[in-house]
Amino acid sequence: MLAGKCIVVGVTGGIAAHKALDLVSKLVKSGAEVHVIMTASAGMFVKPLAFEAISGHKVHTDTFESSSGWRFPHLELARRADMAVIAPATANIAAKLACGLADDLLTTAVLAMVCPLLICPAMNVYMYRNPVVQENLRRLRRMGFIIVEPDAGRQACGDEGPGRLADVRAIMEQMGRVFYPPGDMNGMKVLVTAGGTREPIDPVRYIGNRSSGKMGYALAEAAAGRGAEVCLVSGPTWLEPPAGMQTIMVETAQEMYRTVLEIYPGVDVAVKAAAVSDYRPPTAREQKIKKKEGGLTLELERNTDILEQLGREKRHQLLVGFAAETEDLINNAREKLTRKNLDLLVANDITQSGAGFGTDTNIVKLVYPDGRVESLPMMDKLVLGEKIWDEIMKIKKPVT
Ligand code: CTP
Repeated sequence: MLAGKCIVVGVTGGIAAHKALDLVSKLVKSGAEVHVIMTASAGMFVKPLAFEAISGHKVHTDTFESSSGWRFPHLELARRADMAVIAPATANIAAKLACGLADDLLTTAVLAMVCPLLICPAMNVYMYRNPVVQENLRRLRRMGFIIVEPDAGRQACGDEGPGRLADVRAIMEQMGRVFYPPGDMNGMKVLVTAGGTREPIDPVRYIGNRSSGKMGYALAEAAAGRGAEVCLVSGPTWLEPPAGMQTIMVETAQEMYRTVLEIYPGVDVAVKAAAVSDYRPPTAREQKIKKKEGGLTLELERNTDILEQLGREKRHQLLVGFAAETEDLINNAREKLTRKNLDLLVANDITQSGAGFGTDTNIVKLVYPDGRVESLPMMDKLVLGEKIWDEIMKIKKPVT
């Protein structure tokens, strides 16, 4: 949800500064451009080089730096930022921001920012409970800063209570909610399939494909972030099951078929991003096939086309399919759209670099039943996930 956004991360001097490395790493992985500003005391806990290596950008520490090539670093950072997040935020930075002080790069840049600002306090529990700290946080909240409440628990100093930096995932969820306030898919029930299926040959081998599951997972996460109730049916992948949805892991095309057909009647939208094997060995051999002289011929039988079956059983649902093509993209895509009774088909030419299996990006054409074709540029799969839902929401049928 943060893909394509420019995020300025302010790191101030607390023991939780090392957790900001994880935050920056996860933001970069989710496709955000991240610029880090460190205060002098943050540098006592973590070296700027660590943030530089993870963010891929020079770390900013000095109001008067000239090495960035920017005439006014504080203004340039403020202009670029779609959001700023200060994590960890000490009692000192909260006090300075509450008073409007601008005595270092971070405070100066924040004063010039018009984007959403998140403050993630982290400090000793007694400092956190101190009325003056609480008053400063209240003032900041009144002024429009978003305060991400610290976690409670055992602190580095040995004290117990609230003051631990909020979980990085919680910080990112809060950031996502600012960009995409949950709402436009509230109450919608969505089925997404992802990943490739595996068709067992014997106890050791299977027929599989190169699908990583990234496109389907991106779609599922985007829908959940927008308020939908998501069921993700996934073939085997290395990806972690996303939070905030039901994930059902399956292995074979037949398992996926049974699972999807059971869930389908109860959903408003089904998006079939999975790469389903078209063929399977009729039965998996019980014993490992031993090698012999000469070649080996495997007999294969057809798997049912799940999407085509969904197209036949379509009632109120909106049905979206994918097509992986290596030639004659548009004609093949149009044929699949009609044959499978789809409302939208996302077609990709998997021979292009930056498109298709395993990559973080995709280059697709959206093909509609009225013949319209929209060609999209190369996009991060997370950004494309949002774009596909934008299009689905435009053609959404009334829920029956
Ligand atoms: N699909 C499916 N069940 C199958 C095969 C494919 O549901 N047994 C779905 C995929 O999830 C995808 C769409 O069909 O949404 C297109 O998959 P693709 O592999 O591009 O095309 P096929 O229809 O299998 O046609 P072909 O392999 O001949 O290109």
